Amino acid sequence: MLPILRAHNLILDYQLKSNSIHALRDVTLTLDPGEMVCLFGASGSGKSTLLNVLAGLDLPDSGSVQVCGKAITDMSEDERTALRLNAIGMVFQDNNLIGQFTARENIELILRCQGAQSPKQTAVGLLDQLGVADLADRRPVDMSGGQRQRVGIARALAGDRPIVLCDEPTGALDRTNSDALFMLLRRLTYSTNVGVIIATHDRVAETYTDRVLEITDGELVAS
Ligand SMILES: Nc1ncnc2c1ncn2[C@@H]1O[C@H](COP(=O)(O)OP(=O)(O)O)[C@@H](O)[C@H]1O
Ligand SMILES: [Mg+2]
Repeated sequence: MLPILRAHNLILDYQLKSNSIHALRDVTLTLDPGEMVCLFGASGSGKSTLLNVLAGLDLPDSGSVQVCGKAITDMSEDERTALRLNAIGMVFQDNNLIGQFTARENIELILRCQGAQSPKQTAVGLLDQLGVADLADRRPVDMSGGQRQRVGIARALAGDRPIVLCDEPTGALDRTNSDALFMLLRRLTYSTNVGVIIATHDRVAETYTDRVLEITDGELVAS
């Protein structure tokens, strides 16, 4: 079984006026189909930076990322965007929902871009899975943080993509909803072979995942 995601020797520095921040120091990892991995790390340790580079949203200074065997670090931005649409669902720390769109439209957008059949019904079905079908016609501004987060998760699951990357997906959820989300992702990895990485502070995540990665100061350390 080949990994669906591979990262080799990722290095990324942020240049500030007086100094540079080593956000990723030689990060190497793989993710197998159906695997659920949690990425623990304190605030500022590099979790978001790493997920953004794995998704091809940011490029590393050096190193490579392969998604489903394709080196996204060699692609143009348009090629990376196209690959992401079909290969990677992402849950952002701050949701990143489109403000003018309703919950349903936010999800439909992905499905329509993929040319999916009956995007409307599929979108409502995904919202229902996350327990927020009643929010289908609501815009993000009229939702609570926890509701927005669940809509963001429904969107990441849209389009049957083989990789789902979650950046602190339970940050705005209570214990019951956090557990429900981890279980939903676990079921998904078992039933569809999707590979999931969850960046989180929530140590409970460990009980649901196959493997734990720890990041400290941009470096993966043995856990
Ligand atoms: N756009 C940026 N410019 C400069 N420094 C950044 C930027 N984004 C993140 N950083 C810094 O990089 C480090 C890693 O940040 P981040 O990946 O957001 O960590 P985490 O998600 O684990 O909280 C931190 O020191 C942070 O301050
Ligand atoms: Mg972060």
